[in-house]
Amino acid sequence: MLQGRRILLIIAGGIAAYKSLELIRRLRDRGMSVRCVMTKAAHQFVTPLAVASLSEDKVYSELWSLTDESEMGHIRLSREADLIVVAPATADLMARMAAGIADDLAATTLLASDKPVLIAPSMNTMMWAHPATQANLAILTSRGVNRVGPGAGDLACGEVGSGRMSEPAEIIAAIEGHFAEVALAGSDKRLAGRRALVTSGPTREPIDPVRYLSNHSSGKQGHAIAAALAALGAETVLVSGPTQEPTPTGVTLVPVETAQQMLAASEAALPVDIAVMAAAVADWRVDREANQKLKKDGKGPPMLHLVENPDILATLSRRRNDRPSLVVGFAAETENVVGNAVAKRQRKGCDWILANDVSPSTGTFGGDSNTIHLVEAEGVESWPAMTKREVATRLADRIAATLGGPH
Ligand code: C5P
Repeated sequence: MLQGRRILLIIAGGIAAYKSLELIRRLRDRGMSVRCVMTKAAHQFVTPLAVASLSEDKVYSELWSLTDESEMGHIRLSREADLIVVAPATADLMARMAAGIADDLAATTLLASDKPVLIAPSMNTMMWAHPATQANLAILTSRGVNRVGPGAGDLACGEVGSGRMSEPAEIIAAIEGHFAEVALAGSDKRLAGRRALVTSGPTREPIDPVRYLSNHSSGKQGHAIAAALAALGAETVLVSGPTQEPTPTGVTLVPVETAQQMLAASEAALPVDIAVMAAAVADWRVDREANQKLKKDGKGPPMLHLVENPDILATLSRRRNDRPSLVVGFAAETENVVGNAVAKRQRKGCDWILANDVSPSTGTFGGDSNTIHLVEAEGVESWPAMTKREVATRLADRIAATLGGPH
């Protein structure tokens, strides 16, 4: 997805500029071309020679340099890029961007450009929290500027708090997310002619006409995956328990409540090429739903007898004649995340497991972000923390690459 993409990296003068060197190296490793603009202040932190060596290109700094202007004016600098990344984005450069000031090559290039921009802010905690910076950020966000970070932690100035530039891996994940969204909106239809089934949300297992057993699943991850597969052209059926999520464009929704209904609807959707089971299926149901609302009858609480629900993932993985080519499951774990997921992949008979930590401290359940370990037969790949939408686009991209081209 990143191969051949052209990044214009603007390095402003912050201590985090040293991380930009690592960022350049990693972008180049992924087959992207990186052209760099440095502000004057950035020269205090990293040398243009190091930047030029890693990017294997000339470094641009001067607005009024005859050679820079004649070889590569500021207009062309941005025109020849697919994405402008500002890392580190200092409070000063963000302020100049927000105000439309064009007093050096970096600011002028940003002002003279209609290309998408991703900023990775980096500054002292007080500067980040200052109403001026937050107001500038609000302006930039309203103009469609994307942002990654800053994170919290020990800052170079000795203070602790928010303002630390995101790590290169996180910036790359954001860049991937950007290009994945471009693909979503655009012409990448690698899954055209393929059929996909996605389960999402919780199931509800009735106790009586007014009560049920369920869980906190929001359906965000499953719905995002259905959206990402459909955007790549797959004919997508989304079998979902009750959620607040809107049905993604181009997806056929089959609403269900119980695990048994989810299994029946999933089997009815076969044959499919791709099955992604992201639903949080209730493991147990009450063996017999009461016809009438259970009453407090003075004899103490009712005894609920639970029976096990069918395992939809394992059932689809074991289908003989119409097993989907690729069956993907999730493993929500609170401990030994990878170890349990490796065992689960084998037990369920699926091809991939996306394992994530759902301990309450991670905020994964119901939240917007997720940290995934992709467990395949060949091994385990850990992804950096990213939004559930980014997980979805990355997974869809991976699926498209594995199945190989339109059908
Ligand atoms: O066994 P566990 O619930 O941890 O497995 C999680 C994976 O299995 C998820 O992909 C989930 O959608 C799927 N699953 C299922 N049917 C069940 C239980 C889990 O499809 N009854």
